[in-house]
Amino acid sequence: ARVLAVASEVYPIVKTGGLADVAGALPIALKAHGVEMRTLMPGYPDVMRRLSGAEEIRRWPDYFGGPGRLLAGSHDGLDLFVLDVPHLYARPGNPYVTAEGVDWPDNGVRFAALSRIAADIGHGLVPAFVPDVVHAHDWQAGLAPAYLHYDGGARPGTVMTIHNMAYQGKFDRTLAGAIGLPWDASFDVHGLEYFGSISFLKAGLQLADRITTVSPTYAQEIQSDEGGMGLGGLLRERANALSGILNGIDISVWNPHTDPHIAYRFSAEELSFRSANKAALQQRLGLDPRPDALLLGVISRLSWQKGLDLLLESMPTILGDGMQLALLGSGDAELQDRYQGTARGHPGRIAAVIGYDEALAHLIQAGSDALIVPSRFEPCGLTQLCALRYGAVPIVSRVGGLADTVNETTGFTFGPVTSANLSATLGRASFTYHDKATWRQLQLAGLATDVSWRNRAGEYAALYRGLMASRSA
Ligand code: ADP
Ligand code: GLC
Repeated sequence: ARVLAVASEVYPIVKTGGLADVAGALPIALKAHGVEMRTLMPGYPDVMRRLSGAEEIRRWPDYFGGPGRLLAGSHDGLDLFVLDVPHLYARPGNPYVTAEGVDWPDNGVRFAALSRIAADIGHGLVPAFVPDVVHAHDWQAGLAPAYLHYDGGARPGTVMTIHNMAYQGKFDRTLAGAIGLPWDASFDVHGLEYFGSISFLKAGLQLADRITTVSPTYAQEIQSDEGGMGLGGLLRERANALSGILNGIDISVWNPHTDPHIAYRFSAEELSFRSANKAALQQRLGLDPRPDALLLGVISRLSWQKGLDLLLESMPTILGDGMQLALLGSGDAELQDRYQGTARGHPGRIAAVIGYDEALAHLIQAGSDALIVPSRFEPCGLTQLCALRYGAVPIVSRVGGLADTVNETTGFTFGPVTSANLSATLGRASFTYHDKATWRQLQLAGLATDVSWRNRAGEYAALYRGLMASRSA
């Protein structure tokens, strides 16, 4: 099968969260399943800088308001199509927001343009790569199935993957005309219409042949009114087209045996080396050099979703039980301030690094004893998968992909998601930690868990093939 993936971020080129990890790892993992995937992404400055062997496929004097080009090229084993439209994408920093953290006002046009070209590649714009399936990731690509639908005529199969229901790409209805979609589609409840506006995610969910999300439990949760965040009804109606496929992680990027970012590399037989990484992490973050303190790690976006306000409320348990905390994260300004304040108030015990730091993320996985993910909702979550692979025992809420990937043989789980339940679970972990044999069992069970893409990529391959078969029948 030939598949065109459409994504707004792709690791290791541009990343703000797990979507990039998935978009970067899946094409490589699919090769073993006989799927040839190329990925279309916007030509942000980082992409233009890193693209190798770029070849111009088409050029337009006016693509959504300015000159544009479609390029083909590659990076680090990924085959890419890049939409180079400087007036839309040649902007520094984060792909979605200004330096002040506000959405770019023309995001509707920016990501409609991406989906438009995806549909055109679907129609055969690039003769050397005519896809059987167009696979759209999240709202930024949500219009790709919509354009393919409204264009009419022969088209490839379409798959829409939800990485996060909370981001729906909502825009004013008047946008429809400007982005070349039929005016009545923006009034159609079975089209783009969404509570008086239009939604790119809704359009994709409505009009794609198949819908997937990134864990089986999240696939169930989003069919409820609460979990669906406005789209639960639509997803219940389309339940037959919806499935959950768990994410994996790139086990060559996340490999404690070869990891260049950690102080001491280790394998399952050398778990004792983790204590040297713990010491290195404590030193790096100014934590007291205590081998016996249960060191908790957090690596996260700081947003309501992640439940890290609850962890602040659990501080009395953390401090009272003699635990330490190493948090790496950025996002919500109030949460950043509260964590920095807590760290200042408890030097040697609590450390908060505000920012994005890939090397430190690896050291936290290698050096902390437990990794906490107390999310209110979590489509899949990747940091708990890395933790399993690094012998950091995950402590997670029982929601979404967290519930599907961690259980009481590999970690600690709690629910409902309240600070009282989190505190009780931290207490439980602290008690268990001092029973070295039991703790080691947890670590070994985690290390034995398959967190790779191997089998999960096979589920995507089967989905593409099933879709192709049903469309040719
Ligand atoms: P989400 O996509 O909701 O942010 P995931 O757990 O799926 O959550 O993916 C987050 C990814 O981003 C992981 O690869 C994690 O290691 C990484 N990450 C998150 N915050 C940071 C940070 N501050 N510094 C470095 N890496 C981070
Ligand atoms: C989203 C979700 C996260 C998931 C990631 C990759 O950002 O919040 O749970 O792991 O996408 O699918």
